[in-house]
Amino acid sequence: MDLTPPPTSLADLVSPPVGSPMRHRDFVFGCGTSSYQIEGAAHDDGRLESIWDRFCATPGKVLRGENGAVACDHYHRLEQDLDVLKRLGVDAYRFSIAWPRVMHLDGTPNPRGIDFYKRLLDGLAARGIRAFVTLYHWDLPQHLEDRGGWLNRDTAYRFADYADLMSRQLAGHGDVAAWTTHNEPWCSAYLGYGDGHHAPGLAQPRWAAQAMHHLLLGHGLALPALRANAPQAQHGIVLNCAPGYPDSDSAADRDAAHLFETYQNRWALDPLLKGEYPADLWRYWKGAEPLVLTGDMDVIRRPIDYLGINFYSRAVLRSKGPDTIDWVRHPDVERTTMDWEVYPQGMQDLFEAFKRDYPNLPPLYVTENGMSSQDAVDATGGLDDTQRQSYIKRHFAACSRAMENGVDVRGYFIWSLMDNFEWAFGYERRFGLVHVDFETQQRTLKRSALAYADFLRERAAGG
Ligand code: NOJ
Repeated sequence: MDLTPPPTSLADLVSPPVGSPMRHRDFVFGCGTSSYQIEGAAHDDGRLESIWDRFCATPGKVLRGENGAVACDHYHRLEQDLDVLKRLGVDAYRFSIAWPRVMHLDGTPNPRGIDFYKRLLDGLAARGIRAFVTLYHWDLPQHLEDRGGWLNRDTAYRFADYADLMSRQLAGHGDVAAWTTHNEPWCSAYLGYGDGHHAPGLAQPRWAAQAMHHLLLGHGLALPALRANAPQAQHGIVLNCAPGYPDSDSAADRDAAHLFETYQNRWALDPLLKGEYPADLWRYWKGAEPLVLTGDMDVIRRPIDYLGINFYSRAVLRSKGPDTIDWVRHPDVERTTMDWEVYPQGMQDLFEAFKRDYPNLPPLYVTENGMSSQDAVDATGGLDDTQRQSYIKRHFAACSRAMENGVDVRGYFIWSLMDNFEWAFGYERRFGLVHVDFETQQRTLKRSALAYADFLRERAAGG
């Protein structure tokens, strides 16, 4: 029997449990976006082509052939979107910089592109909102891909130059609480170079492993410049992690779950926090070991101030023979329109396992959590996204339990501020707190947004 009392106010729909450590005033609440998914303005102010422009133009890669050329037109609607953030009352906003916008072909700065991010940071600060700035959310300049992209070790050094440039250029603008080197290098490496579902669309496990190595190397190489140029900010990286559960208690299925977590989580976590790749990974991808030069692992394991975790779902695994795993899709479980299972308990399990497995685990931020659903504005002009409200509330509760059990979580960002370009799935998968009509660019706050705003207002008022 469900004994949870019915919600008594709008704020109750999207809020952590009463008494949760997440209600502490220092806990950071926010929401996030990324450049290619919202900015549009693909040809404005000298922006160069990115690997996602090229990938989207390749027939069959993105549903309905959609692309980010216009997206939410955020580049031209900056002030309006900043006002939406203010209306939400978030403490912080997480966004990414489009590398192809801010550097010319020869690596010199592009002041017109950089100016957009200065205005963004200043606009946030004017509204009392702190910034979490991501340097790489997948939109590599195409000219670097033409020279091998993340398969080319030189890209790691170009990335460090870019990090240096942006942290210098943006110093003195806004209130940057945190710099993030990479968002989800797993996706860049595996989906980009291992199975080809993302740009640049290459598909070989050993390429994925080499790309991951260069992404992580770039991360480590960027840290000293970030620390020097932005000493007041925290510096870290964001990973997409998920717990794996065995479908049965057999040793083979337990090993399948272990292998899943190795390739999903430990592939990046072990190098970052232990300075080595997990040996099991090469059981799963035989012969895919990357070329690692002397000293690389020491660069990769440079200390970070925080670890961002993007959490959406879990996986259930079954063995398909030695070192081979199969994803089990149970019917009759709650899912989102991404077909991802809704499993909030997984967040608690994952965080507590990380705390157990990594004695040097830095403080965590939930840098993404949220869900896609079929959202349409109703006849009254509103949008009651009940599944999203409940999804967020249940994940808040899971995060609270992990914190009560000793996991150090400092903040929580809902993905996403607004509906946007969901990569290979185009515009149909709506993750926003705010609905976007892509014909008119009209923004409509969904009920989850209104409830989140109410909770944040009550909390700010000491309620
Ligand atoms: C991960 C990515 O960081 C973001 O770009 C994406 O839209 C969401 N998760 C949902 O898939």
